[in-house]
Amino acid sequence: MRRRPTLTRLLATAALALPIALPATPAVAAPPAPTRQLSDVIPAPVETRPDARGTFTLDPRTVIRTAPGSTDAWRVGHQLADTLRPATGYPLPVLPVHATPLPEIALLLGGADARVGQQGYQLDVTHRGVTIRANTAAGLFAGTQTLRQLLPATIEAAHRQRTTWTVPGGRIIDHPRFAYRGAMLDLARHFHTVDEITAYIDLLSQYKINYLHLHLTDDQGWRIQIDSWPKLTTVGGGPGTGVDGAGPGYLTKADYRAVVAHAAARHITVIPEIDMPGHTNAAQSTYAELNCDGVAPPPRTDMAVGYSSLCIEDELTYRFVEDVIREIAAITPGPFLHIGGDEAHATTDEDYRTFMQRVLPLVAKYGKRAFGWNEIMQVDPPTDVVAQYWGTGTTNADLAEAAARGNKVVMSPANKAYLDMKYDPTTRLGLSWAAYIEVRDAYDWNPAQRVTGVGEQAILGVEAPLWSETLRTLDDIEYMAFPRLPAIAELGWSTTTSHDWESFRTRLGAQAPRWRLQQVDFYPSPQVPWT
Ligand code: ACM
Repeated sequence: MRRRPTLTRLLATAALALPIALPATPAVAAPPAPTRQLSDVIPAPVETRPDARGTFTLDPRTVIRTAPGSTDAWRVGHQLADTLRPATGYPLPVLPVHATPLPEIALLLGGADARVGQQGYQLDVTHRGVTIRANTAAGLFAGTQTLRQLLPATIEAAHRQRTTWTVPGGRIIDHPRFAYRGAMLDLARHFHTVDEITAYIDLLSQYKINYLHLHLTDDQGWRIQIDSWPKLTTVGGGPGTGVDGAGPGYLTKADYRAVVAHAAARHITVIPEIDMPGHTNAAQSTYAELNCDGVAPPPRTDMAVGYSSLCIEDELTYRFVEDVIREIAAITPGPFLHIGGDEAHATTDEDYRTFMQRVLPLVAKYGKRAFGWNEIMQVDPPTDVVAQYWGTGTTNADLAEAAARGNKVVMSPANKAYLDMKYDPTTRLGLSWAAYIEVRDAYDWNPAQRVTGVGEQAILGVEAPLWSETLRTLDDIEYMAFPRLPAIAELGWSTTTSHDWESFRTRLGAQAPRWRLQQVDFYPSPQVPWT
């Protein structure tokens, strides 16, 4: 896909885009019919009240006005202007709120319907303009992503289009079902560059995804700079690492900070994962002292799992783990730090418990809240630890007990939410150990009815992991994520009452012109009526 301009670049150019004189008012004509309806959006909004009299048409005089005194709202205004300027060719200056007769898109803090909460928004469209109200900049940002989808698809074009830029009239009141809507990239099996990660972030943000989980370490590679153990990246992430030796590379701390900042500008929080005590061959083949016998195993570039384990009885292991957690926590502004814990088949149950009882307090010591794959619930961790369920079954006693104790769960069932599973046996990329996952399979499940005893109250949200054993490029990522990522996004955001496959597949089909303009390499599923 092509790269969109970065926030930094757009902030630098925004001042230059201010018009010296506003163009003359065009003659008043009958308003054109909008091409979109309020309910065409993905994820489906909570409430839409169309008003056919209220069609708004963006024109060369339109201004964006943002809540006074809020840098955050001003930033959202500039991001919106950056999104709308290329295709419209309009100046769209971002100005403080002010009573004028100009058509406007107003981004206001406060005054929204009480239901919108901390992440939702209210969007009102009349013939005079669009008003988005929210309690937070994140809510305003979500509202602007809805507005983007309410405009004709050609709004995504990189160059000026001759179109009438209609927005359908009425009101949307919208807020998420779950606070957490995540996606995951696996940098270990094949490294993904900062440009690839930020391009994915841009796509995620259109569907109101608000967490990006980065799987930074595994048997085949270590992908994040750790100053106190420098060979982790130069050796563990160096040439020849990754599946088939074809995925070398790592994020410097500056790279990681750039990713975190790019995500934050789109109201997405990064969750770093350091997988342990298994999935650690890259570290253990780099540093011999991390092995109980003091002998470094050879590097591994195959796809096997479950053979590595940190040395549970060695104090050096905990010095290593604490160094890593301390350094990662220091560059992670978000509240969560993921410590993996999956598939530790080379660690005994007793050792696994010993290890987690040493390591969980280290996460807390550096001010973070621990995430772990669902196996971590075996150790009855404190109730602030979040379990990420990746199983394929509908029962899991440890998870149900944890939910009953008060632990929160993020649902990523591998046979529904794993974006690296093939769509069908003919899919060129991906794996199939959990399932073939066609679009309808990804959409037709309920996160709060997936595992017995893990109901709505226990669910923090949903996440769509994308493992990269078979993926190389951004095009590969896009092909596996689209169109299933929007399905998972809708499960996380929209109400169960709006859950409807026929509606979803129609709305999904209408996204295709946008993806083509964004050069997203999506899978043209035969289940979807593509337009
Ligand atoms: C996993 O797929 N091993 C979390």
